Amino acid sequence: MAKGKVEPRIFKGTRDLLPETMRLRNRVIGTLRAVFEAYGFEPLETPAFEFYDILTGKSGEEADHLLFPLAYQDGRTLALRYDLTVPLSRVVAMYGKSMAFPFRRYQIQPVWRAEKPQKGRYREFLQCDVDIVGTPAMAADAEILLLASEAMERLGLEGFTAALNHRMIIDGLYERFDVDEKDRIFVSRTLDKIDKVGRDEVRRMLVEGEAGATLDACVADGLLDVLEKADLDAVEEQVRSTNAGARGVTEVREILEMVRVSDTAGRAVRYAPSLMRGLDYYTGPVFEMVVEKPRIGSLGGGGRYDGLVGLFSGEDVPATGFSFGVERLVDALQESRPPGLDARALRAAEILVTVFSPELRPNALAAAQAFRAADLRAELYLGASRKLKKQFDYANKKNIPVVAVIGPDEAAQGAVTLKWMDAGEQETLPLASAPARAKEKL
Ligand code: HAM
Repeated sequence: MAKGKVEPRIFKGTRDLLPETMRLRNRVIGTLRAVFEAYGFEPLETPAFEFYDILTGKSGEEADHLLFPLAYQDGRTLALRYDLTVPLSRVVAMYGKSMAFPFRRYQIQPVWRAEKPQKGRYREFLQCDVDIVGTPAMAADAEILLLASEAMERLGLEGFTAALNHRMIIDGLYERFDVDEKDRIFVSRTLDKIDKVGRDEVRRMLVEGEAGATLDACVADGLLDVLEKADLDAVEEQVRSTNAGARGVTEVREILEMVRVSDTAGRAVRYAPSLMRGLDYYTGPVFEMVVEKPRIGSLGGGGRYDGLVGLFSGEDVPATGFSFGVERLVDALQESRPPGLDARALRAAEILVTVFSPELRPNALAAAQAFRAADLRAELYLGASRKLKKQFDYANKKNIPVVAVIGPDEAAQGAVTLKWMDAGEQETLPLASAPARAKEKL
């Protein structure tokens, strides 16, 4: 072993994304970007790191734990951003004067969280966010859910649910069941675990005080009974006497009515009374996109955060939005493999142009250029082997479906032989008509 060799390794929860994964990822990102743009969202990017206090501003202790702090040499502390919502709120506070509101932006950038990695949970991951800033109208929340449902459908994912709840309904329930304000955050975090650990365990944690707050058994039972019903009418019964609860129910009904404009969203969006969402900045409707398989948590999540921009600007600016996690979308697609997303559909090159001999390399180069000019993805063989068999093996290994050969006979006639790897068929034709023929059969 060479002296001083450094063991190649990476930090757990971060990943090298090799071409096979990148191809699927790029497809996912391309689809999301197209949907975002179809709904009129504009692109934005912000720095990977921000001043520490910008990031800790409002998201509560939960966010504090998520941060990777960075000490700069002048003694100031920065940190890697843990989401794209806080940076957006800062941007609106800084540049709002020159923006047209409501401002719709999309942002596709990595974020970092100092969490314990597990399946579907990384320390570095890519978020794709859409947010609408500057309107309190529930139509904005409905648009976000329409967009998120359409994106799932266009990605080819099936059996998804966009769970919808409202922070004010939860507040209404707490008021109704006399849950102390200081305990609410702990109770919410515990209730959020119902799907994961089950009702009995959540009840035990709440009653035994393991959650950070202790509830009377009858309060815990009352809350769990309501949340398990998954029925807006039943919840309304409980919270209608509270201002927050009544408003929350009205807004959820408005959203459910509006998303019915689309069959997909109409089917996907469902009221889910036990959906809490971890981040503390939400003030209104909250959403989460889930699939039954694989069980990796939400593929996306979001909600309304009417107070966050104000934290930086001092003015009330309502906002709502949603974030897809690309890693989890890719995991879900790898599991379900919808048509169009198999290895062949995602191959890098469509044609491999072989090199018959060094003398015929210029002909191969010219042929590759002709395919590229016709918008075909063509790779010129650059390996050491002169044997055509080896070059064909290379094409097979890379899932390249068509191979072009220009031997001495073809060169003499200005022709090329195209071989379709799957069918094993081949045909020789003039170079000028080869790109069109390849396109037709691909
Ligand atoms: P979030 O639920 O924390 O919300 O994250 C959104 C999505 O990012 C999740 O649904 C999931 O797909 C992905 N995600 C979260 N944590 C991880 C992780 N450790 N590894 C892999 N993927 C992960 C937010 O971040 C909010 N800022 C969303 C938002 C936008 N709210 C309003 N606008």
